Amino acid sequence: MNEIKLFAPGTIANLSCGFDVLGLCLDNVGDEMIIRKSKQKGVRITKIVGANLPLETEKNVAGAAALALLENSETDLGFEIEIYKKIKAGSGIGSSAASAAGAVFGINELLGRPFSNKELVYFAMQGEKLASGSTHADNVAPALLGGFALVRSYNPLDIIKIKSPDHLFASVIHPQIELKTSDARSILKKNISLKSAIVQWGNVGGLIAGLYTNDYELIGRSLHDEIIEPARSILIPAFDLVKKSALKSGALGVGISGSGPSIFALSKGEDTTQKVAKIMCEEYDKIDLPYEIHVSKINDEGIKVLNSKS
Ligand code: HSE
Repeated sequence: MNEIKLFAPGTIANLSCGFDVLGLCLDNVGDEMIIRKSKQKGVRITKIVGANLPLETEKNVAGAAALALLENSETDLGFEIEIYKKIKAGSGIGSSAASAAGAVFGINELLGRPFSNKELVYFAMQGEKLASGSTHADNVAPALLGGFALVRSYNPLDIIKIKSPDHLFASVIHPQIELKTSDARSILKKNISLKSAIVQWGNVGGLIAGLYTNDYELIGRSLHDEIIEPARSILIPAFDLVKKSALKSGALGVGISGSGPSIFALSKGEDTTQKVAKIMCEEYDKIDLPYEIHVSKINDEGIKVLNSKS
């Protein structure tokens, strides 16, 4: 195989209670990438469409992730990467993660899969480090593995993939403002109280139990963030109103998607999810704030190969 075209999915990180340790993969929100072998060693970003991002390999998240993989590989080949961005940077839907995960996935395929998708998470995290200054895996892991991903440990890296209950869908609304992950991280307190931690880890356990047992009510009860949401929600226009209306319309739970400003809701069944999405839009219509809305099932596959050429 000489060339591969991919769908690199968007992701929702944190899922309220799981700051830096939980995320899910979206199905119809994502970028496209073309990766091809070249005789010239190294990695070149040859095209970026849809975003104003650096072409210099070391300054590009896809480039940085690809270089991290190649440093651990013995190949003499080089690679060219074309990126067709659809996920906006600073949206909270894993834009940088999609590029980083897509790059390492594509190169790994072209090399004949020397690494497992779980092993690729480490390389993709090096792209995230460039984007936000922190090597969190809660976007790149679900992008690479699909479904829900839990980062059980960062050192050593231990990622657990959890299949989504069949009837779980996400609505994600992106108010058209940009919020940099590094800024949204800089406002967080470095220490938390034992009381808050107890609430938070109870909910993480509850969410995981709910996912494994298809207990939608338990999933809903567990989508609560005691620590991060109170600090970050003030950066997001009408957050409380959108959350309240979405819950009233039947959402199981609502929270900040990644580091924001997007807001996600999880619901049971597509009809309820559409209803929730509509009400979220209405809240932003009321204040004349432009937005993008996405309704998606949970993508259990992760990155998808669209076509390949030999
Ligand atoms: N866990 C990260 C954060 C996700 O909330 O800062 C960023 O997309």
